[in-house]
Amino acid sequence: MKTIIEPFKIKSVEPIRFTTKEERKNILETAGYNPFLINAEDVLIDLLTDSGTSAMSSGQWAGIMRGDESYAGARSFYAFESAVRNITGDKFIIPTHQGRAAEKIIFSTLGGPGKYFVSNTFFDTTRANIEFSGSEGVDLLVEEGKHPEQRAPFKGNMDVAALDSFIRKTGKENIPFVMITITNNSGGGQPVSMQNIREVKEVCKKYGLPLFLDACRFAENAYFIKQREKGFENKSIIEICREMFSYADGSTMSAKKDALVNIGGWLSLNDEELAMKCRNLLIVTEGFPTYGGLAGRDLEAIALGLEEIVDEHYLQYRIRSVEYLGEKILAAGVPIIEPPGGHAIYIDAKRFLPHISADQYPGQSIVCELYVEGGVRAVEIGSVMFGKYDKNGKLIPSVMELVRLAIPRRVYTQSHIDYVAEVVIEAYKNRNYMKGYEITYEAPMLRHFTAKFKPI
Ligand code: F0G
Repeated sequence: MKTIIEPFKIKSVEPIRFTTKEERKNILETAGYNPFLINAEDVLIDLLTDSGTSAMSSGQWAGIMRGDESYAGARSFYAFESAVRNITGDKFIIPTHQGRAAEKIIFSTLGGPGKYFVSNTFFDTTRANIEFSGSEGVDLLVEEGKHPEQRAPFKGNMDVAALDSFIRKTGKENIPFVMITITNNSGGGQPVSMQNIREVKEVCKKYGLPLFLDACRFAENAYFIKQREKGFENKSIIEICREMFSYADGSTMSAKKDALVNIGGWLSLNDEELAMKCRNLLIVTEGFPTYGGLAGRDLEAIALGLEEIVDEHYLQYRIRSVEYLGEKILAAGVPIIEPPGGHAIYIDAKRFLPHISADQYPGQSIVCELYVEGGVRAVEIGSVMFGKYDKNGKLIPSVMELVRLAIPRRVYTQSHIDYVAEVVIEAYKNRNYMKGYEITYEAPMLRHFTAKFKPI
């Protein structure tokens, strides 16, 4: 097979700024050793997130000019609605300014004290919205998903037996719905199989519970199904997407991922009464139902992005370029979640830095080293992000200590990725000299965004 190439050519470029190691040491110290607090200008390769960082196509930029900015009933809304419906098949398509706005609306409508929502793994903002409503979020990931070094095709799957027993124990009346996150971001960007979606749906049906998809990376999930699941080899991506959504009663979506735009999202539903309630809340918090929190041009760009994302050449390049980075650093001995995920490589900080305990945040240590070493910005997904405290103020660590290298869509070329691999490998060589961190400031919720640290 020939080299898989970027399926685009470059029409517009954005310079990136080089800094020296000495400069980066100062910048990091000023930012309280938290990469979220570094100016983007001071970052050479930004792998903080794949969210809202996509390069739009010339077609999407043309769509931006065509955007209809009418307050109500804009043409761009109907283009958006039809593109979302084409994939989800859902009746009610509610635009929101991003994923968490859809989450806020659905969880504050159906949540509240005493309620439980169940998922393979909830993303941090999703969990925060559940908890903000007074409910609890429960993650029921399959066992293999909890072992970074264990290879399996669908490590994002939900534990179906655990779901059944959780519903029996908790009472179906206390569970407004079950949600599957595709792909499972917090668990390593690992896909969920069609078989698993079907089985979860069966359990939901048995108890009369709705099933929702957190659909942020639906196209990447569909590509993995095509690659790895028997019976889907000859199906088109759009067919696979439609089947995934056919089992769901609704979805929340951050269009900042698999709709190839910089802002946007949706809440899609089939239940009319629920849709009415959500739209009423949307009007208070986001905007009129035909624009949500978006401009007409954003809706237009999402509609076009949804056509581009299901292109198989694009997805082949996308999944392969992430895998390429994973293979390179793995070959140098760097421990990662295997196999590589769809949108990111997750370094296993526990095995990378076995001498740094969870309460000294090994993931944070790697993130700082990558920045100083090469100006690469990554994000900790471990005890900084998910850690809690017990009654005595002792840290309850996260199950895994990870560092995510998220790859923006259509932004970096192969040589950028080669450079990133070199920086990671260099950091790995320095691992015996790397130190832990302590937190000097933290907010009560989603602390990783604003926390400040100090090296130990
Ligand atoms: N669900 C998942 C699985 C996500 O990955 C995200 C965002 C959201 C919901 C929320 O969407 O940001 O548009 O409000 N993930 C980004 C990330 C922030 O870096 O992984 P949002």
